[in-house]
Amino acid sequence: MRILLAGATGTLGTYVGKELAARGHDILAVARRSGDLRYDITDPAQVSAMYERAGRVDAVVSTAGHTPFKAITELTAEDYLAAYRGKVAGQIELVRQGLARIGERGSFTLISGVLAREPIPSGSAASMANGALEAFVRAAAIEIAPQRINAVSPTVFTESLGTYGDYFPGMEPVPLARVAQAYVRSVEGALTGQVFVL
Ligand SMILES: NC(=O)c1ccc[n+]([C@@H]2O[C@H](COP(=O)([O-])OP(=O)(O)OC[C@H]3O[C@@H](n4cnc5c(N)ncnc54)[C@H](OP(=O)(O)O)[C@@H]3O)[C@@H](O)[C@H]2O)c1
Repeated sequence: MRILLAGATGTLGTYVGKELAARGHDILAVARRSGDLRYDITDPAQVSAMYERAGRVDAVVSTAGHTPFKAITELTAEDYLAAYRGKVAGQIELVRQGLARIGERGSFTLISGVLAREPIPSGSAASMANGALEAFVRAAAIEIAPQRINAVSPTVFTESLGTYGDYFPGMEPVPLARVAQAYVRSVEGALTGQVFVL
């Protein structure tokens, strides 16, 4: 398959890209600052230009996203909007514009995260964003068949413990190798409307 991978240059995206390429897929790497296609997925005009450049794609995969982490008493109204834009709006835009661009049996695989179901202090904006993303995936699935859509919702990556480990005391991490398999299952399998909890 020809797969557009948004967030391809990050910790997760690099791993997922290698795994999908090793399985014989052609990867179009998207990120803002490096990669084959340099676009900001939070800007609808750039998403449109990105799809124009990409041409035909069979699947769209996202490992992109960022949210602010701060105590609830410090998060501003703008921080919550930034979390929505940084994690939800860009991924929804990939789907909204991608529906007309990918094949009749094409698929979308988006990234969520454990904070949708297990809160941590300073994580309310991320929890809000992940919950919204997962709700969108379930809702979109019932309208887009036979195209498919799933979310991958991992806990902290083993490989990210050095950076984020202090936020997740006592929570068992998941290795990127396992997270990448959920992407393979979503892209190559037949499931839709699923949230793969890892
Ligand atoms: N790290 C963890 O332990 C963990 C656990 C659970 C869930 N997650 C989720 O997994 C996702 C990836 O995490 P990560 O640790 O791999 O992050 P990361 O290393 O910061 O990678 C993010 C990637 O997305 C790209 N990106 C970010 N915003 C973009 C935008 N607006 N348009 C296009 N590309 C964009 C970045 O490249 P540019 O900056 O060049 O655009 C980079 O390639 C995030 O959504 C995160 O919330 C992470």
